[in-house]
Amino acid sequence: MAEQADSLRRWVHAKADDVTSEVLAGRLKGPHVLAITSGKGGVGKSNLALNLALALQVRGVATAVLDADLGLANINIILGQEPDYTVFDVMQGERHLADVVLPGPHGLMIIPGASGLAAAAAANLDQVATLLAEFQSLEAQVEWLVVDTGAGIAPSVLAFVAAADEALIVTTPEPTALADAYGLIRAVDETASPVRLHLVVNRTADAPRGQRTGERLAGLVAKSLQRSVAVAGVVMEDAAVARAVMRQEPFYLGAPKSAARADVDRLADYLLDRVPAPRRGGIASFVRRVLASVPRARGDADSDGRLPKQEPTHPMANSQGSPEAPGMPGMSGMPGMKEGPR
Ligand SMILES: Nc1ncnc2c1ncn2[C@@H]1O[C@H](COP(=O)(O)OP(=O)(O)OP(=O)(O)O)[C@@H](O)[C@H]1O
Ligand SMILES: [Mg+2]
Repeated sequence: MAEQADSLRRWVHAKADDVTSEVLAGRLKGPHVLAITSGKGGVGKSNLALNLALALQVRGVATAVLDADLGLANINIILGQEPDYTVFDVMQGERHLADVVLPGPHGLMIIPGASGLAAAAAANLDQVATLLAEFQSLEAQVEWLVVDTGAGIAPSVLAFVAAADEALIVTTPEPTALADAYGLIRAVDETASPVRLHLVVNRTADAPRGQRTGERLAGLVAKSLQRSVAVAGVVMEDAAVARAVMRQEPFYLGAPKSAARADVDRLADYLLDRVPAPRRGGIASFVRRVLASVPRARGDADSDGRLPKQEPTHPMANSQGSPEAPGMPGMSGMPGMKEGPR
């Protein structure tokens, strides 16, 4: 058993090294892998993942969205799609990834991943090989892979964040969400991953204040964790978002004049203008890194391969905690940390 796990690990690493050297040699154009994540749940990750991916796609940048929230897959619901197959069927060798991918608006690719990726924790060598080979086929077709993850600091979430090139950490201006975002950043930092961190303050009532709130959190992270987090921007509180969810149509298309769309456009420009070329080997290499760390949750997968929603084990991940955010260095008692001063 341990021997099999060892040989799997060696094989997976060798496979990814092949891809990485291809990318480094310039033979393969390495796509960017962007994980969208948050400390607190319900702050707007799935909506941001889908609408930001659309903004990239309409800019002529070939984009795919991977639904990797192992608890509750949401992307398809926001789009009003019902996938027939998921990555699980790819792993079983029953479908090719191309048959699982759903066509989204403007040619956006939607990859229903959740249950299949959860099951990957218990995958055997053949299944892992199949998954990697299939994902490798995306390498040449996609420039950005946007990964919608679950919230919190469970290993099954951190695996995706730590494996990405970039992570967009979504928070709202609420102290609980900020405290959980800080806790998540600390947990990512502890993985020693070179993932670059970016912050988005969603649902702000006032853009400059939201921006300042993000900068304060980034300042706190720089001071106490010596880790750099860039403030990518803000998204306004906008009733068009909830209306679009109800209609199961992305607000980017359904509400073209909305403030939320203008903000998402700015975020897409930020990503295209400010994010440097990826250097971690593209999509297959990303999947290899996820698979190499997901097995830590192996014992948790039930017979369907679904992982239970894990309780936060980190005190900072407790979104029910005090709004004063105890334990966040320099945060409790920090005047106006609820949302930046006017
Ligand atoms: N900018 C916004 N303005 C107004 N409402 C918003 C905004 N962003 C998100 N919402 C509301 O928050 C809800 C939750 O958003 P979403 O499902 O994207 O969050 P999530 O972080 O993916 O949640 P989960 O952690 O459960 O996966 C949306 O259905 C919408 O009603
Ligand atoms: Mg979600």
